[in-house]
Amino acid sequence: MKVMVVGGGGREHAIIKKLKENKSITEIYALPGNGGIAADATCVNIGAKDIDGQVEFAVNNKIDYAVVAPDDPLVLGAVDALQEAGIPCFGPDKKAAIIEGSKVFSKNLMKKYNIPTAKYEVFNDLDLALEYLDTAPIPTVIKADGLALGKGVIIAETREDAKAAVRSMMEDKIFGESGSNVVIEEFLTGPEVSVLSFTDGKTVVPMVSSMDHKRALDGDKGLNTGGMGTVAPNPYYTEKIADICMKTIFRPTVEAMNSEGRSFKGCLYFGLMLTPDGPKVIEYNCRFGDPETQVVLPLLESDLLTVMQAVTNGTLDTCEVKFKNGSAACVVMSSSGYPQAYESGFELSIDNSVADCVYVAGAKLDDNVLKTAGGRVLGVTATADTLKSALSLAYERVEKVHFDNAFYRKDIGAKALQAKEG
Ligand code: AMP
Ligand code: GLY
Repeated sequence: MKVMVVGGGGREHAIIKKLKENKSITEIYALPGNGGIAADATCVNIGAKDIDGQVEFAVNNKIDYAVVAPDDPLVLGAVDALQEAGIPCFGPDKKAAIIEGSKVFSKNLMKKYNIPTAKYEVFNDLDLALEYLDTAPIPTVIKADGLALGKGVIIAETREDAKAAVRSMMEDKIFGESGSNVVIEEFLTGPEVSVLSFTDGKTVVPMVSSMDHKRALDGDKGLNTGGMGTVAPNPYYTEKIADICMKTIFRPTVEAMNSEGRSFKGCLYFGLMLTPDGPKVIEYNCRFGDPETQVVLPLLESDLLTVMQAVTNGTLDTCEVKFKNGSAACVVMSSSGYPQAYESGFELSIDNSVADCVYVAGAKLDDNVLKTAGGRVLGVTATADTLKSALSLAYERVEKVHFDNAFYRKDIGAKALQAKEG
């Protein structure tokens, strides 16, 4: 069986490594993949947004199954185009991917179907937004409507900062058309939990919960990044909370999408905050999270391809989705300076003993030499019976990976450990 995976980051590397456990897969292609993924798949130089190129490649190479992992191609309709060409696919179609593609859509969906989320107002007029901010509760949260490389959320501590944020989005268009509409919402507090789920539009199966570490520096300081590390399961996410989420968030969301004629099939990601008033949705993503996937999939005991195909075929209700009991931790190694300016092109050495646990995000092959080529370079994962052991093993493995200007947080999982013990 020939499988292709669209995307080229650490998440895609984790998906590919997991898929490879299925022995019926004879060939895996990554479009475009990266220099590190090349050890596990045939990388093809077709970009994640080049949907015509993806369809042409899939048809010409008689691809049996495609997985579209990143948000951009999903929101642009890659799954629709591949399916039209007769390629079975994992991922939501364009109509359903809007749940991530437009924050205005997702906020209105939650309001209409009583799914708990922060209170909000939507603006497409700068003056009205500024006027609203004269009296809005502070801190406040400003969100660009569309995709903004994970950077479209600004938490403003003062009215001035809030107004500046709105101006930068609506007037200066720092996120382009994504900022034509903005959501201004209530600032919530509480531990954050990521829950990825498989859904075929009828059944929803949550995966093991996880915790991201978005800030660049130890102690949750510094700028927001794409994620500096993850642990799973998330100790704040108890069975009781999971039950509440299933009843008030997961099932209602899947049903709401059906009612809107936008049935969601794929991986639906719930970004949750456990507020004093109960769990609320911070954001939906229409895809696997990065770097959540790097801790969630290593804990998946069931065969990933089988589960994905059950999602595609609408038979998830009869498919076993089992997770191991232990914990997983992933430490992201980045180029020093990320998420701002950084240098790349440094030679990467990954000891063979840890190669299986390394998910490469930003690297390229230069005359067969693997070199850094991105802000987040790779993630090092470990699984173990306890979170504590998974963390120490992950940090031991980090010592076996080298490149000049490497940077990583030293406190991944520290909060989770405290929560577990406290
Ligand atoms: P996002 O880019 O949508 O993942 O959001 C980035 C981060 O902003 C989230 O992980 C939260 O920490 C924070 N955030 C988003 N919305 C809110 C909110 N309403 N209240 C407090 N924090 C928020
Ligand atoms: N880790 C957050 C995301 O994938 O959007």
